Order: sequence, then C-alpha cells, then structure tokens
Amino acid sequence: MSKKTATLNTLEPVPGTKVWPGLLSREAQEELVATFREQIAENPLYQPTMPKTGKPFSVSMTNFGDLGWVSDRTGYRYEDRHPATGRLWPPIPEGLRALWAGLTGYDAPPEACLLNYYGPHAKMGLHQDRDEKPLDAPVLSISLGDTAIFRLGGLERKGTTQSFKLASGDVMMLGGPSRLRFHGIDRILPGTSTLLEKGGRLNLTLRRVTDPARANN
Ligand code: SIN
Ligand code: MN
Repeated sequence: MSKKTATLNTLEPVPGTKVWPGLLSREAQEELVATFREQIAENPLYQPTMPKTGKPFSVSMTNFGDLGWVSDRTGYRYEDRHPATGRLWPPIPEGLRALWAGLTGYDAPPEACLLNYYGPHAKMGLHQDRDEKPLDAPVLSISLGDTAIFRLGGLERKGTTQSFKLASGDVMMLGGPSRLRFHGIDRILPGTSTLLEKGGRLNLTLRRVTDPARANN
C-alpha cells in the first residue's frame, strides 16, 4: 500500500495517542474499499446489539482476521466466526498488516480488524477497548470516508474530554498510557468525503487479542 512518510506529520495530543493526518493516499484508501467491497457478500455487515438490553448499535460491523469482535445479549467478546454466516473471517488485508508493523513496532501481528460502518446518523458512545489480553499492544485505527468527530476522554468514564476530527486517510493509535482511554464518536459529518459511493464512514481498528508471550490464552 502506498503511503506518505509516517514520521513527518505525527500529532500527539496526549501521551500515547498518536494521529497521522492523511497518512493513507487516496489510492491506498480506494484499494482498501475495493477489497472490502469484494468480500462484503460473504462477510456482510451485521447489526450488533448491547449486552443485556439487546438495543442495536447505530453502527454496523464486520471483521477480518483470526478473531473478530462481536456483541450480543451474551456480552462482548472475540469470536473466530461471523455471527450470521458461521464462516471464518477473511484475512486482514496485507497493507493493513504492514501498516501495523510499521507504526506500532509491536512484535506480533494483529489478530483482529474490526470494521465499523457509520451511516449519516450513527455514533458511538464513550467506551474503553478492554476485551484484549495484551494491553501493551496498541489499538490502531484507520478512518475512511466522511469525517468524524472523535471524542477522547481519560482513564475514568467521568472527567474531561477533548474532541478532534478524523478525516479519510487519517490513522490514529491509542497505546501506552492512552491504551485504556475512553473514546467514542460524537457524530459524522455527511458529505465531507467522496470515497464511499453512498457516503458514510468506515473505521477499521487493528488489535492484538491474545498475549503472544503465552501459548494458550
Ligand atoms: C471504535 O472505538 O471501535 C471506533 C472508533 C472510530 O470509529 O473511530
Ligand atoms: Mn473503541
């Protein structure tokens, strides 16, 4: 995947939160969208629901990799199969694996790539990513399509937050002291990108789920 130089334009709003604005070229973004479009028939978006209440999320999801994040009445967890089709998830595209290796420096590959699709009214409440074992591994996030207003909090649900925009091609990492920061999406700004034919936003998050230092976890 072609990309601009990773180190030149890195923002670090708080320690451990890194943003590379416009890191992915338009060509690289189109390549990723084409890959997802090819696979969508066999790996369709599904509507996750909140544990206990069964309330549907406003985003729809699918996954790539050995493990995928799912949520239903039973809870949040990683599974190796799509909840609707029962098929194994398709592999994480090579370009994204290379991006993880280049930006995170983590000594094991990502196991999960969660794809969230945001329509014009979708959002995501403040939450922590804490279903993964090795918390020394960062979460790497790639934004495609319409710009989103991203909200970044602290390590407690209550407390001050800040917001910034994530545009198509931006890459963000939550690692180190920011790994467990609360975060969410306030809203997307419809019509801000021409990348997706029908508009909306795709977010991809690459995660290491199991601890590479331990055999069975
Ligand atoms: C997430 O926290 O899973 C998604 C964040 C985003 O859409 O940028
Ligand atoms: Mn998250």
